Amino acid sequence: MPPPVPPDGIDPAWLPPAAFRPLGSRRTLIRGRGGPLVETVYGEVAEACARFGGSVGWGGGAACDLVLDVAGEAGDDESFTLVRDADGPTTVTASGGRGLLHGLFHLLRLGEGAFRGRWEPEVHRPALPLRMLDHWDNVDVHPVMGQVERGYAGGSIFWVDGRARHEPQRVRAYARLLAACGINAVAVNNVNVHETEARLLTDRIGEVAALAAQFRAYGIRTHLSVTFAAPIVLGGLATADPLDAEVREWWGEATRRVYDVIPDFGGYVVKADSEGQPGPFAYGRSHADGANMLAAALAPHGGTVHWRAFVYDHRQDWRDRSTDRARAAYDHFAPLDGEFAANAVLQVKHGPMDFQVREPVSPVIGALPRTRLAVELQVTQEYTGQQRHVCWLGQMWSEVLRFRLDGETPVGQLADGLVGVSNVGDDPYWTGHPLAQANLYTFGRLAWDPGADPRRVLDEWIALTHPGAPDALVSGLHAVLDGSWRSYEKYTAPLGVGFMVQPGHHYGPSVDGYEYSPWGTYHFADRDGVGVDRTAATGTGYAAQYAKVWADVYESAASCPDELVLFFHHLPYGHLLRGGSTVIQHIYDTHFDGVAEVTAARDTWASLRDLVEPSRHARVAELYEEQLRSAREWRDQVNSYFFRKSGVPDAHGRRIH
Ligand code: GCU
Repeated sequence: MPPPVPPDGIDPAWLPPAAFRPLGSRRTLIRGRGGPLVETVYGEVAEACARFGGSVGWGGGAACDLVLDVAGEAGDDESFTLVRDADGPTTVTASGGRGLLHGLFHLLRLGEGAFRGRWEPEVHRPALPLRMLDHWDNVDVHPVMGQVERGYAGGSIFWVDGRARHEPQRVRAYARLLAACGINAVAVNNVNVHETEARLLTDRIGEVAALAAQFRAYGIRTHLSVTFAAPIVLGGLATADPLDAEVREWWGEATRRVYDVIPDFGGYVVKADSEGQPGPFAYGRSHADGANMLAAALAPHGGTVHWRAFVYDHRQDWRDRSTDRARAAYDHFAPLDGEFAANAVLQVKHGPMDFQVREPVSPVIGALPRTRLAVELQVTQEYTGQQRHVCWLGQMWSEVLRFRLDGETPVGQLADGLVGVSNVGDDPYWTGHPLAQANLYTFGRLAWDPGADPRRVLDEWIALTHPGAPDALVSGLHAVLDGSWRSYEKYTAPLGVGFMVQPGHHYGPSVDGYEYSPWGTYHFADRDGVGVDRTAATGTGYAAQYAKVWADVYESAASCPDELVLFFHHLPYGHLLRGGSTVIQHIYDTHFDGVAEVTAARDTWASLRDLVEPSRHARVAELYEEQLRSAREWRDQVNSYFFRKSGVPDAHGRRIH
């Protein structure tokens, strides 16, 4: 049974003390030159040994069970090699501290297995060099969005009431958790940069430096979201034109000052010309001009600009059926391929809309072969139950990362990086819903290895979080998490059509909530049918943004996968899906099934009562009641809505209101 949250309010999550037993009960030697990260590794092993009776020393010679061999400290190399002869010792070799740290956490995952039998030399290196979490944290409490935009885990762990929290211990514990799942970069403030937050770049950079010091100890670089208008709002210049010499000089100087205090600063994250944020369009410049200006300021220091591709018209006229928000990112960015600087990374949401429970993979990801690219996922559950519902997203992310836009290369190989919007806050469990920790862990591990089997990652999380758990707990946890994404999909918006959420806060159903809004997120249901015609033949032409292998599949309702069919097609209720039912019957069936699945998960959780620490069990049990209430509400609103529109009764005569 995992321990209750300790009195300092910091849940050990996937690093409970017991996970260190195999390591801490053995004799470890660290060989090689030390540096800050090697010191961190030493500290980890020493603490484990103090708890479990093992020993740790520097140098060579003495008999031992584990050798941690490091060539030097410096460098970006994150790889390590694991090897073991049948009679030991186990050896982890790395060229630098980063690799050694990852090697240490790998040993934790292996547990006792790391010290048994023979291990052929195994080289581990991350598939993606950029593995980043973006916090949408505000320093001030925003009047509408609160402290953490789309945050469902309390306040920010960095900021409170307009100032830094100064809780280095909590930040250090967080950095440790992130490093243990493979994350190596963090952006500490919201992409929507308001007035107070803009100043983090200049006079408040010391607060960022204090955070960076904690992250650095675990090999994590700190990044900052900046406003494109900074030269105006902070520098007093008349313009933020990216081609203006004074503007460029201002950014150069501001950036130099950042590096004075944070020598390993990662770089900037920019949301420009998006949902009201300023950008290069105001000056008749392209997004490549904007990104390259910041890239030029960062280049001398080795920094990177993450430029977001989430650019669309958020003041659309709902009467206009030719404008399609899904097309926007591709239309804006595909023509710019080859124009971005080498240290600019285009950060693209995984789907063309906005983190819905089901979207096709964004065609932008395959459209810029000469541009560095990061895929952005939403770990925070804005549209997937807001950390009141269990919705483990590993399966969805894995499908995205394995998808072959050109029919050959998986997304995980096209991308240079994976970015997740953080789901963490000052909640004692970090993530509000204790089981939402699994999403954060899975995100990090899939960024390290996008080809990994997500279910194995889930089991890894279960094993680490609950060391020595009885089989019933392991299988119970697996049962309630695996499949929870599909359950969520079943009781919410059907067949890839998306949204149908309450406007503004996005929790709970409102089928027409966005139907007559300016946001470009419509389903077009009428008495005859539902869905968005995005075909090239008769619709918005979005389907033609894909390479032919997929353009052809999506263009025809007969070949389009059911789960996306209303994203690409407007179909009559009687249309027969590939799976054999009609659109309307599918809607009814999945909504009844979804609620049944949540009920079953709730009951499974209840059966684990004696196996889970009581306060943790109670929190999840309570959240399940809310999830079930909400799932029923979704079912009844969606089913009633479509029954009233279509007049078609449920083939099984179930209750529709
Ligand atoms: C979503 C979300 C916003 C966020 C935006 C973004 O639209 O609702 O709160 O700012 O994504 O990714 O920039």
